[in-house]
Order: sequence, then structure tokens, then C-alpha cells
Amino acid sequence: MSSVTLTAGPIARARNGVIGKDGALPWRLKSDLANFRAVTMGKPVIMGRKTWDSLPKKPLVGRTNIVLSRDGSFEPKGAVVCEEFSEAVAIAREQAAEDGAREICVIGGASLFELALHKAGRIYLTDIDADVEGDVTLPPIDETLWSEVAAQAYPAGDGDDYPFTIRVLERR
Ligand SMILES: NC(=O)c1ccc[n+]([C@@H]2O[C@H](COP(=O)([O-])OP(=O)(O)OC[C@H]3O[C@@H](n4cnc5c(N)ncnc54)[C@H](OP(=O)(O)O)[C@@H]3O)[C@@H](O)[C@H]2O)c1
Repeated sequence: MSSVTLTAGPIARARNGVIGKDGALPWRLKSDLANFRAVTMGKPVIMGRKTWDSLPKKPLVGRTNIVLSRDGSFEPKGAVVCEEFSEAVAIAREQAAEDGAREICVIGGASLFELALHKAGRIYLTDIDADVEGDVTLPPIDETLWSEVAAQAYPAGDGDDYPFTIRVLERR
């Protein structure tokens, strides 16, 4: 059995389930971006093609970037492309073993989070304390399947549009 844990997220989610708008994040949360960087650094990250497109700086440095796309001609610079989620996870696991990483992180968007939530052992979830307008939503997570092992509330500081809580959930 692999000692590498598949994680869903970090996911940042508004109270109404919104995670994206117009191909970008519909908020500015500087402190949460710092958390995203800290959680994912040194680990393979798996993302959908639109999330890749949305990254202001590509690839995410210090992490093996794996992008899921059905477009066989898609050749992003600095990332590995996969056509199947299972293939992406297999490559990420191999890379994690090589790098000594203990987690592989599925970092969105919505369909990738849904795929990951079936298989993940852990969720990194940022619950934003606001309803936010957007066009990409995540269905509710069935929290009866998960135990909260950490939660830290943050007021809206400099560079944060809203207050939020960073949570870690482990599969029961
Ligand atoms: N709040 C958050 O935590 C968070 C995290 C990540 C992203 N976002 C936001 O979410 C939005 C993007 O998410 P999204 O859900 O629209 O798109 P996405 O999941 O990032 O990308 C969708 C694309 O990924 C590929 N894909 C998806 N499932 C696949 C599968 N099973 N097999 C092969 N390829 C697959 C397809 O690419 P092709 O079309 O190339 O075939 C598909 O069009 C943006 O607004 C972004 O800012 C938010």
C-alpha cells in the first residue's frame, strides 16, 4: 500500500459553493494563496487544463505540474499532460516516490475536485465566509464521511477580500 496520500485541494470555496468566475478566482485572498503555496510546495500537483490556463505564472515552481486534457495537441511548457485521471495519479505517485513527497495534490477545477473527492484521504479546504458570484461551483462535500483534524479562522487581513477558515479533513 502506498504511503503517499492523495489530497483534494487546497480548495477555496465560497459559502454558496462557488470556486471560480470567468476563468479565474473571484476573490483576492493573499493569506490563502500563501497557504496554497505552503501546502503544495515540493509535491506533484494535478489540475485541469482550464486551471492551468488560469495560472498567472506557469508552471507552479517547485512542484511537478500535471495537467489533464483531452486535447492531444496540447503541449504546455513545463507540465506533463495526461488524458486520463488515473494516469495522472499514477505519474504523480511515481514522482512523489522519487522526490520523497508524502502527498499529491489535486488542485482543481470542479471536475478534478469531484474525481479526487472519491479517492482522496485528505481535503485541504478553505471555507470563505461570503456568498460570491461565479460560474464554477463545487457540489456540497458530504462531511459525514470526513473528520475535521484542523481548523484556523482568519479575519480579512491586508490583501484579503473576505474572512475565511482553513480546514483539514481526513477521511473517516
Ligand atoms: N477556488 C479554487 O480552489 C479553485 C481551484 C482551481 C480552479 N479554480 C477556478 O475554477 C475554474 C476552472 O475550473 P473548471 O472546472 O472550469 O476547469 P478545469 O477542471 O480546471 O479544466 C477543465 C478541463 O480539464 C480537462 N479535463 C477535465 N476532466 C478531464 C478528464 N476526466 N479527462 C481528461 N481531461 C479532463 C479538459 O480539458 P480540455 O478542454 O483541454 O480537454 C477540461 O476542459 C477557474 O475559474 C479557476 O480559477 C478554483
